[in-house]
Amino acid sequence: MHLDGVPVRACVTPISGVGEQKVTTIEGVGKTAVGAKVQAAWKAVDTPQCGYCQAGQIMSATALLTTTPKPTDEEIDAAMNGNLCRCATYIRIKKAIKVAAGLEKA
Ligand code: FES
Repeated sequence: MHLDGVPVRACVTPISGVGEQKVTTIEGVGKTAVGAKVQAAWKAVDTPQCGYCQAGQIMSATALLTTTPKPTDEEIDAAMNGNLCRCATYIRIKKAIKVAAGLEKA
């Protein structure tokens, strides 16, 4: 999820630590312009395998592209670091981020 646009792990974030920060979840991120682009790119690239990790991946990708609309490979790697995918969809995730950024075609 995002707290004031910053990706955090919901599973380890106590509600007492949220305070007045704005919470955005995977259910709401597609209502933002960047989130909608990321979700469309995820579909176009057929990114998920089992899907388990994908909500977190999309939230991190959306936060990245909100602050860095045309990220380098190194910026993508840094922003996505720690989002594990047991299905190893990392190549498709990076491709989808570049598609969402308009850097590549699906
Ligand atoms: S798509 Fe299966 S864990 Fe990432």
